[in-house]
Amino acid sequence: MTRAMFADCGVIFFRDQQISEAQHIAFAQRWAPININRFFAAHPAYPEIARVSKEGDQTSNIGGEWHTDHAYDLEPAMGSILVARELPPQGGNTLFASMSVAYEALSEALKTKLCDLKAVHSAQHVFSARGTYDVDNEAGDQRIGNAVAAEQLPEVIHPVVITHPLSGRRALYVNPTFTIRFEGMTAEESQPLLHELYAHSIRPEFVHEFVWRPGSIAFWDNRATWHFARNDYQGYRREMHRITLAGEPLRGARPV
Ligand code: SIN
Repeated sequence: MTRAMFADCGVIFFRDQQISEAQHIAFAQRWAPININRFFAAHPAYPEIARVSKEGDQTSNIGGEWHTDHAYDLEPAMGSILVARELPPQGGNTLFASMSVAYEALSEALKTKLCDLKAVHSAQHVFSARGTYDVDNEAGDQRIGNAVAAEQLPEVIHPVVITHPLSGRRALYVNPTFTIRFEGMTAEESQPLLHELYAHSIRPEFVHEFVWRPGSIAFWDNRATWHFARNDYQGYRREMHRITLAGEPLRGARPV
C-alpha cells in the first residue's frame, strides 16, 4: 500500500489481521508521527492508542455523529487507524463519506462561493464539562475526559474547500460535529448553508458502510472523508483501538 493509494481511496480496509498493539503503533509510525488524542481514554499500556469503547451497560457511543477526527486542531490529523478488538454479534458498522466526491457533485456556482469561505472549528461544545459527550454519557463514564483542556482549546479556522495535501484533489472541509460557523458570520447565519452541505454530503452514493469482522482494520484520511459509528448494538460490548496520525496546515482551493 502506497501513499498514492491512500490519497486516491480516502479509506482503506484490511481483513483478517491479527496485530498486536505494538504492531499497530509500528504500522502507524511508518506513515506519520502519532498525534495522541487528548480527550479519549488511552490504552493503559500504550498511551499512543485511544480506546474507542462502549460497554454492554452503556447507551451512548463515541463517534455516533458524522465527523472527521481532530478538525478542531490547527494542523488536523492526517489519518486514523482503527483496529477492531471486540465486536458485538451484529451492528456497530462504521459509515464513511467521501468529501471530494461530495464537493465534485456540487453546482459550479456553489463550488465558487464555497472556495472563498473559511469555517471556524472547535471541540469545546463536544469535550468540555458542558459538552455533548458529558451530557449524554452515564455518570462515572471514563471514556472521555480532559474537560479542562477542551475549555482552553482556541477556535481554529480552515478553508471550507481544501486542496488535499497528497492528491491535490478538492474536498469539502466542514463537518457536523466540530464546525461551528463560517468565518465572519454568526452560528445562526451559518446554519442554513452548513445544513445544506451536511445533507448533501451524506447522499447514499457518497457513503460506504463498513461491516466490521474480527481482524478488521480501517485506515482513513481525515482530510478526504467523514465517518460515523452506528450505535445499534445495545447490551453488547464493542472495543476499538484508534491511532491518529499527525497532519499539516490545510490549504484552500484558491492560491493565497
Ligand atoms: C471514531 O469516530 O473514530 C470511531 C469510529 C468507530 O468506532 O467506528
